[in-house]
Amino acid sequence: MAKKKTIGLYPGSFDPVTNGHLDIAQRAYKMCDQLHIAVVANPSKKVLFSVEKRVELLNKTTRHLSNVVISSFNGLLVDYARQIKANMIFRGLRAVADFEYEFQMALINRSLYPGIEVVFLVPNEKFIFLSSSAIKEVATLKGDVSGFVPSAVEKALRDAF
Ligand code: PNS
Repeated sequence: MAKKKTIGLYPGSFDPVTNGHLDIAQRAYKMCDQLHIAVVANPSKKVLFSVEKRVELLNKTTRHLSNVVISSFNGLLVDYARQIKANMIFRGLRAVADFEYEFQMALINRSLYPGIEVVFLVPNEKFIFLSSSAIKEVATLKGDVSGFVPSAVEKALRDAF
């Protein structure tokens, strides 16, 4: 039986994209024929950057990866996964604290779309502690975030605060 082309979907708020997200994206990229990185347009939390800006920053910071498509989506993740014919959803797991939420989301998504596999990837340990919200807090207080985010994001944070 011929193996199906692997179309991966890496969804998130990416508000903004961090070095930890990029580490996961590179790992996911190696595992599929095409990788879609999709920004949720209607996140459940308050965001700093517009969806257009979040997409722009992802485009700028993933230029070196061919076969990566950056987009945004509204509504249910599984509906978007169906629309782009994704057969894998990638999520990063940093610590046990992430697990409960991610496990619940994976099981709900798989029951809504049984054709999808959810794959958890572990980032390089140097990024285990990173989160977009912590980075925003450091940037608000004028701290140095250059080790945590790509330079385009650092500039965007500087402009925002
Ligand atoms: O980066 P985040 O904020 O952890 O990403 C969360 C995201 C965007 C993956 C999640 O909120 C999501 O899938 N939202 C779309 C709405 C949806 O499908 N909700 C049901 C999930 S159980």
